Amino acid sequence: MLSESNNKTFFKLIQESSQEEMIWMCGYISGLLFYKKKDSKEIKKEEKKITLVYGTETGNAKNLAFDIYEKAKKEKIQIKLISLDQYCLRDLEKEDYFFIVMSTHGEGKPPSSAKSFFDFIHHNKNLFLKNMKYSVLALGDKSYTYFCKAGEDVDKRLYDIGAIRIIPLYKCDVDYENQSDKWFSEIVNFFKKKNEICTKKKNQKICGKILKNIILNNQEKNSNKEIHHIEIFVSNKIEYSP
Ligand SMILES: Cc1cc2nc3c(=O)[nH]c(=O)nc-3n(C[C@H](O)[C@H](O)[C@H](O)COP(=O)(O)O)c2cc1C
Repeated sequence: MLSESNNKTFFKLIQESSQEEMIWMCGYISGLLFYKKKDSKEIKKEEKKITLVYGTETGNAKNLAFDIYEKAKKEKIQIKLISLDQYCLRDLEKEDYFFIVMSTHGEGKPPSSAKSFFDFIHHNKNLFLKNMKYSVLALGDKSYTYFCKAGEDVDKRLYDIGAIRIIPLYKCDVDYENQSDKWFSEIVNFFKKKNEICTKKKNQKICGKILKNIILNNQEKNSNKEIHHIEIFVSNKIEYSP
């Protein structure tokens, strides 16, 4: 496992170390390993999947989704952008954050590129999206009877099958810039707040009372190091690491 030179150094160090020094080294190395493991877990925790999909007939939803994707990059929000007709529907259950830009066509029907997605979520009886947090930006035209109906249907259906609506449905008329800007600001604010909460949680200070403080070293051997066993009482349940 160790290189020849490290091997020599290691055994030399062990031979020359007292028992207390070896205990200290053990503790130090365990601590290092613990933090390395914890760091990699934390990075994984932060790596939530964010997907932006669009369903379009004449290109508006696509153009808008591309604009949002570029703006999100500037805000340091890493998003995967994909058209609904390219999207693998089996991945829906793996989505963490799912944002949908979608128009309405025909008589309140989804655009052709969103039809498979629309049918899949409406007719698949076993689909339960408990992990998904989502929001829909619906494009339409108020002069039609079923204004933004397809977007409305998707928003309702996702909610009914367990997904969590993190931002309310936004419905846009032909001049969609204003509404879509507002929707995007809500997304940015959502992730900003989420990051603030994570940082606060990490740096939280908690007061406790020391109940036990026992020196574990053999004092008769005149050890120059002290290893303490400490027990601290806190009133609330907390997550902590040494
Ligand atoms: C043939 C046709 C039918 C439409 N039907 C509806 C409708 O039922 N409800 C609605 O709100 N908008 C309707 N619209 C308006 C579109 O949803 C709107 O123009 C939207 O911006 C188009 O986006 P897209 O280019 O991404 O498909 C219709 C548009 C066309 C051309």
